[in-house]
Amino acid sequence: MAIRPYKGVYPDYNDSVFIDNSAVIVGDVHLNDDVSIWPLVAARGDVNTIRIGARSNIQDGTVLHVSRKSPRKPEGSPLIIGDDVTVGHKCMLHGCQLGNRILVGMAAIVMDDAVVEDDVIIGAGSLVPPGKTLQSGYLYVGSPVKQARPLTAEEKAFLVASAENYVVLKNEYLEEANA
Ligand SMILES: CC(C)(COP(=O)(O)OP(=O)(O)OC[C@H]1O[C@@H](n2cnc3c(N)ncnc32)[C@H](O)[C@@H]1OP(=O)(O)O)[C@@H](O)C(=O)NCCC(=O)NCCS
Repeated sequence: MAIRPYKGVYPDYNDSVFIDNSAVIVGDVHLNDDVSIWPLVAARGDVNTIRIGARSNIQDGTVLHVSRKSPRKPEGSPLIIGDDVTVGHKCMLHGCQLGNRILVGMAAIVMDDAVVEDDVIIGAGSLVPPGKTLQSGYLYVGSPVKQARPLTAEEKAFLVASAENYVVLKNEYLEEANA
């Protein structure tokens, strides 16, 4: 079973959510309205929580995981993703917090306790180190990431459009699956 509980806690989502048959979703994973999970995504909410906000899309081959709670760090590192977030192909998001209207470029890595504020683009192949904060309204690229420049108005509009496009696409996939 690709969508399964861990210690009795099941993934939580409604009929508006699309999960590709090849994705693996385990445990305490909460998917809000119109989220889409594309082929070969692994989301493992075992030692902490994963939350994904409305209309966000997690593209093919992306890995989502968390870090456990400990005496040194009572809350551990959950993975929190906001609304209208596009996560490109083959990303690694681990125990970090993403706000709203963000593009995580293909194959980017975001590590524990990093915070990505609203309206940010992370370039393809970038690495966001543990605990780093990416400021709202900027493009970041590189490994480790550096602030490159402010986003243009067109890029900010694209962040919303990208999420909308993926809602349309996942609705087509849902129709096909339910036909
Ligand atoms: C970073 C990005 C947004 C382009 O930004 P841009 O300002 O238009 O960049 P340009 O193409 O004008 O390139 C500017 C410089 O950045 C470099 N650059 C471009 N993308 C880069 C990246 N991801 N990482 C590091 N450097 C990058 C270019 O090589 C160029 O370097 P140079 O000045 O030394 O020649 C884009 O390349 C990118 O990574 N987009 C992510 C797309 C994606 O993954 N979408 C998800 C799948 S749907």
